[in-house]
Amino acid sequence: MTQQKTVAWVTGGTGGIGTAICRGLADAGYQVLAGYNNPEKARTWLETQRTDGYDSIDILGVDLTSYEACQNGVNEAREKYGPISVLVNCAGITRDGTLKKMSPDQWNEVIDTNLNSVFNTCRSVIESMLEENYGRIVNISSINGRKGQFGQVNYSAAKAGMHGLTMALAQETATKGITVNTVSPGYIATDMIMKIPEKVREAIRETIPMKRYGTPEEIARLVAFLADRDNGFITGANIDINGGQFMG
Ligand code: CAA
Repeated sequence: MTQQKTVAWVTGGTGGIGTAICRGLADAGYQVLAGYNNPEKARTWLETQRTDGYDSIDILGVDLTSYEACQNGVNEAREKYGPISVLVNCAGITRDGTLKKMSPDQWNEVIDTNLNSVFNTCRSVIESMLEENYGRIVNISSINGRKGQFGQVNYSAAKAGMHGLTMALAQETATKGITVNTVSPGYIATDMIMKIPEKVREAIRETIPMKRYGTPEEIARLVAFLADRDNGFITGANIDINGGQFMG
């Protein structure tokens, strides 16, 4: 074991929002393990973090859609750094299309990556969190799990499901020093948003009262707040962070 810092695992850590979350948690003193999907991109990404002085960030490559792979990844991480005390479920994909055109593959890929993965990761860390009597789980959902979104029955279902899991698990762990919360970002300036056709994207931006996209750093600040050891009384909550686009 190389260090004694509290260990945080951020799935989707090399992505747009994930990168800011990793850096925010590293700034707050955690040993961060960034989950990734693309090994080549992850290596380059890690070099950038190191060049920028983030020595307490490492990468952890796990196929989140596989329960066994998650368990193995968590065991490897524990041997190297100690038990994972903070889990941020930030991995997510879109396969947009209206239902009448959506293939079963588009549905299944999104449910597997965005929702089944959350069972796999939470299940893989929960026993050690219970043993330690301490844990912080933050599920990164979406405004579109709150209000639905044209062209996203798959994504909206997965993201709404995520918060159901949050509320149930929060009850199961409430007396065990573990908090479980959902963060629901609106449209944040990342590559995922840039994939939306420009005309559609601009129309969406017009519906945001603040008339701008959010920044990954704005999400990261909220995640670091929820992950804080001293922040032990917020659990089962959903926190919207969307520039006023949806007020539920
Ligand atoms: N509400 C109602 N009608 C709409 C609509 C809306 N929001 N958007 C489009 N339509 C209408 C169109 O006007 C069009 O109508 P006509 O046929 O009468 O002209 C019809 O629906 C078809 O629309 P498109 O031309 O857009 O159809 P398409 O097949 O080319 O594209 C789509 C469908 C891929 C879903 C496209 O609309 C799209 O990309 N939408 C954006 C989806 C979106 O917001 N994704 C978010 C990704 S980012 C993310 O998910 C992160 C996060 O958490 C926020």
